Amino acid sequence: MSKDLQRPPAELRYADELAALRAEDTDPRPPGWALSLAAARRFIVGDDRGVSRKFVGDPSLVDRALVTLATSRGLMLVGEPGTAKSLLSELIAAAVSGESTLTIQGGAATTEDQIKYSWNYALLVAEGPTPRSLVPAPMLRGMAEGKLVRFEEITRCPLEVQDCMLSLLSERVLAIPELTGPDGMVFAQAGFNVIATANTRDRGVNEMSAALKRRFNFETVFPIGSYDTELGLVEREAARLLEQSGVAVAPRRDVLEVLVTAFRDLRDQPERLSTVMSTAEAVSVAHAVGLRGWYLRGEAGTAADIVECLAGTAAKDNADDLARLRRYLEQQAPRRHGEQWQALHAARHLLPG
Ligand SMILES: Nc1ncnc2c1ncn2[C@@H]1O[C@H](COP(=O)(O)OP(=O)(O)OP(=O)(O)O)[C@@H](O)[C@H]1O
Ligand SMILES: [Mg+2]
Repeated sequence: MSKDLQRPPAELRYADELAALRAEDTDPRPPGWALSLAAARRFIVGDDRGVSRKFVGDPSLVDRALVTLATSRGLMLVGEPGTAKSLLSELIAAAVSGESTLTIQGGAATTEDQIKYSWNYALLVAEGPTPRSLVPAPMLRGMAEGKLVRFEEITRCPLEVQDCMLSLLSERVLAIPELTGPDGMVFAQAGFNVIATANTRDRGVNEMSAALKRRFNFETVFPIGSYDTELGLVEREAARLLEQSGVAVAPRRDVLEVLVTAFRDLRDQPERLSTVMSTAEAVSVAHAVGLRGWYLRGEAGTAADIVECLAGTAAKDNADDLARLRRYLEQQAPRRHGEQWQALHAARHLLPG
């Protein structure tokens, strides 16, 4: 069923692993949780008994995140773009609640309706406000069903919309004043909590109200420190995406080495670009390189394809970044050894402008 989906949610993609973990999980679980903390951690960081490693990072961060979610405070994941905050929140929700799709996408136009509930207007006109004409949004469902709710990019919401989360998080009850009797109060079931993510780059976490901050425990997700770990992740993820895109050859190790090294160089002074050269971007460039190689020429993709892809991902529409990128290809690339570094240098004229 999930075969043709572009990106199935974690609970579908890893349904077998989740079922196996659930079957052998005998440890105590917090009320309302589908897995114990130990099993949820294994699902996320992997183990040596067949559970794949999905989030690459500090296992103690995962432990702290899970413990927070078992308390009555929300979990706030902050960090640079592309450090897998969204991925981690999806994996945690899939492990803890068996469902990661109760998600609110924060933005300038997010309204309370998209957080709490709205109405089916045809039914509302026909029979007035009734439970049948109520259209639950993720917070209402999460509270009623005792599940984790994900709130992506919460700091991009207007402050007054962020504030509507305050009473939900502290009182753990959602009032629906239009409904009378017991239907007018939805009390949160065990298992409900909120995982929010916020980007430290686009618009500051500072814009979150102090009252809301107090209701969350913050965890910072850091970029991957080690070159080998990052290379391994990019290789594994690119191979998976390419296979899904119908590409019959695996990405070349030497090309990925050049790609990951260049990304790491472009993250630091003096070549630092204003665009974030995150691991997530590296994965997407590796995917595009493989697609170009295979669908344009029937091979795995080379360093020249990296240059073609970088213009659009790294430099975007920033002329300074383009100049910095050009300088990197002209001056840094030829100093490195290896056929693909020479190819990268030779392809510098493919940059636009
Ligand atoms: N530590 C990591 N572990 C696993 N995958 C990672 C890691 N860092 C980056 N990735 C890659 O990046 C992708 C995750 O990006 P994701 O969208 O979750 O980042 P984000 O921090 O939410 O970014 P943004 O701030 O732009 O929303 C993953 O699908 C994976 O390919
Ligand atoms: Mg995200």
